[in-house]
Amino acid sequence: MKLGIFGDVHGNLPALKAVYEQLKKEQCNKIVCTGDIVGYGPFPGECIDFMIERKIDSVCGNHDEYTLIGYLGAEVNEIAGDVIDWTRDVLHHRHLKWLAELPKKMTIAGCDFVHASHVPTKKWFYIVDQKSAEKNFEYQQSEISFNGHTHVPVIATHVPGMPVRMTKLKDGIVCGGDKFMINVGSVGQPRDKNSKACCVTFDTKTKELKVIRVKYDQTPVLDLMKELGFSKYLQNRLKKGK
Ligand SMILES: [Fe+2]
Repeated sequence: MKLGIFGDVHGNLPALKAVYEQLKKEQCNKIVCTGDIVGYGPFPGECIDFMIERKIDSVCGNHDEYTLIGYLGAEVNEIAGDVIDWTRDVLHHRHLKWLAELPKKMTIAGCDFVHASHVPTKKWFYIVDQKSAEKNFEYQQSEISFNGHTHVPVIATHVPGMPVRMTKLKDGIVCGGDKFMINVGSVGQPRDKNSKACCVTFDTKTKELKVIRVKYDQTPVLDLMKELGFSKYLQNRLKKGK
């Protein structure tokens, strides 16, 4: 089975459309999302409708959860918090219902999907380095798992008795370890100094991974952010991909 995987859409409809069309061209049998459909971006309802109409399965991200239940006590800065509050106000009941039904974890074709990690903490754990990746592998049971959350596409590899390795995500065959955590980057707000939307394909039989960057027109997103008075910081972040 060829999986198309993306995540961290963050209310960026043009980027979501571009990634979806690309994954269809790649002839993926199943398209899966690693969460954070809303937050930061100005098209949250449109993105949810796009996911509903195409029956794209997703796990729940931290921004999806904060939109539903609030973010009191969470590490959310003012800029992100303002957009979460705005998002909750503009979403319809059907959007909130869809968000509320998102699972924290999914397993498809033997692969696990989570937003942040397998670490059973109430906080959304960030896998950013060897130490945090090691912590994840203490709890990850499956051989292959996909996540998002950091908006940086990387692969962490676990080999028993060896230090965990974390490297930039590249095309190739996943091998040489017993467990892998693959971060699929971000569709709507990449943070790896590449403003193009990010997604991957994974062949569950051959274990071949392909990383795809998709160029899309940011003008409608930036224009609407400006019109809605979203922080300039968020606009610049989108333009620069960091
Ligand atoms: Fe995110």
